[in-house]
Parts: sequence; C-alpha cells; structure tokens
Amino acid sequence: MENTCRLYTDLAWLWPMWGDAAGEYAQYCRHVAGLIQRHAARPARTLLDIGCGGGKNVFNLKETFSVTGVDLSPAMLAQARDLNPESTFVRGDMRTFRLGTTFDAVLMDDAVSYMACLADFAAAFRTASAHLNPGGVLIAAPDVTAETFRQNRTTVTQSARTGARDGLDVVFVENVYDPDPADEQYETTVLYLIREHGRLRIETDHWTMGLFSRDTWKRVLRETGFEVHEGRHNAGEDEYTVFACVKTG
Ligand SMILES: C[S@@+](CC[C@H](N)C(=O)[O-])C[C@H]1O[C@@H](n2cnc3c(N)ncnc32)[C@H](O)[C@@H]1O
Repeated sequence: MENTCRLYTDLAWLWPMWGDAAGEYAQYCRHVAGLIQRHAARPARTLLDIGCGGGKNVFNLKETFSVTGVDLSPAMLAQARDLNPESTFVRGDMRTFRLGTTFDAVLMDDAVSYMACLADFAAAFRTASAHLNPGGVLIAAPDVTAETFRQNRTTVTQSARTGARDGLDVVFVENVYDPDPADEQYETTVLYLIREHGRLRIETDHWTMGLFSRDTWKRVLRETGFEVHEGRHNAGEDEYTVFACVKTG
C-alpha cells in the first residue's frame, strides 16, 4: 500500500485536534527541558526542534528556550507558525538540511520515526549533530523501539477540541502493524471519522515507519559522536524510551 501521509498535507488541518498541545505535550516538554538542563555542559538557551510538525512541542518549550523548528511539510509549518508566531520555522528534510548555525539543544521525537531505513536514520542524527554546539544535548525520543512495539495496537483518540470549531467532531483510529518482523519497518494506518454538523465523512491514511532496537539507537547515536544516557518517560499507561545525548566532539 502506498504512503499517503495525508495528515501532513490535505488533512493537516486535523492535526491541532489530535492531542492537546497544552496538556500531554506540556508534561513531556517539562521532562525534555529538565534533561537538557541536567546534561548540558553550559547554559542551554537555544533549541532546534527537528520535525516540529504543528509546533505543539515548540509551544511548550518556547518559554524556556529560544526555539527554531524545521519540518518537511509546508502545511504543518503553517500551523506551527500560527501557534508560535514568536518562533522561527524553516522547511527542511531532516536527512539533509543544514541551517549554517548551531544550537545549545536539539529535540528529535516522533518525527524521527519516519526514518524507515538505517541509512536515513543515521543521516538524521548527523543533521542533529551538525546543528549542536560542543557539549550541547540532543534529546532523541522514539515513539516505539523493537522492544516496546505491540503488534496490531489500535488507539482511538477523540478530537481534543470537540465542538470548538462550530459543529466539528473528529475521531482518530490509529493501527500499527509489522508485516515482517525481520526488517526495520512497520506500518501505521489511520481512519479519520470526521463529523461536520453530524454529517459523517471517513478518510484514510497510511505510512511506513522505522523500527529499531534500543541497542541500534544507542550504537548509531554513539557512532554519530554522542555520549548516550538512556532514560524513561511515562505518559498515562505508556512508558517511552528517551535518549539524552551529549555532543562530545
Ligand atoms: C507527528 S508530526 C510531529 C508533531 C510535533 N512533535 C509537534 O509538536 O506538533 C511528524 C512530523 O514529521 C515530519 N517529517 C516526516 N519526515 C520528515 C523529514 N524527512 N524531515 C523533516 N520532517 C519530517 C512530518 O512532516 C510531520 O510534520
């Protein structure tokens, strides 16, 4: 099945309703900021969010850091700018972009899951390293690793702003599936149940993501020149792996 990624193109307008920017993201970002302050060799004032999407993390990090966001999708960048007019946003592909400037900290979280092969995965971390000051901290946080992946996991999320946009009500049904556990990929399939003034429209979406073991994450990060500190973050019933990585070179 072909990768559609409609969530970042024609259906990007749904993104603000998937999760609560001021709620679940706030707790996660406090954890991220705490890790950066703990591991940084010098005061951390600037942060680059790679794969910033609609800017929900930026929204929660901008009080602590001067934030720049990079993303591939113009539609998502437009949302990030609306939510964070005081921050800077640039279009770029995390495998290749070079801004020609460096930061005290870099965040790479859910977007790095779109690196669906080892070469792209390693290239994304080289991009992170190229934008970090020596002693700066990369926070790399996988959605899942090979150890935490759950076959056929299906989550249902109700629109965070149900009814807020004049009769609009959205339900997101997300399924993950690994057709071949021997390779480094899995599939995400999403159904969007969109009701506008009670009238139902069903849209579908599908994409391929990368799935790597914790050992692979650590090996690639070390090979890129990072000193790696592995930790955990709890969100509801889920526990996520978070790598705090100090640029040694
Ligand atoms: C789930 S969204 C990120 C949401 C974000 N964490 C937030 O705070 O709103 C995933 C993002 O990854 C971006 N992405 C996917 N592949 C990318 C690439 N090669 N380079 C840059 N961004 C990419 C997509 O455009 C999308 O906006």
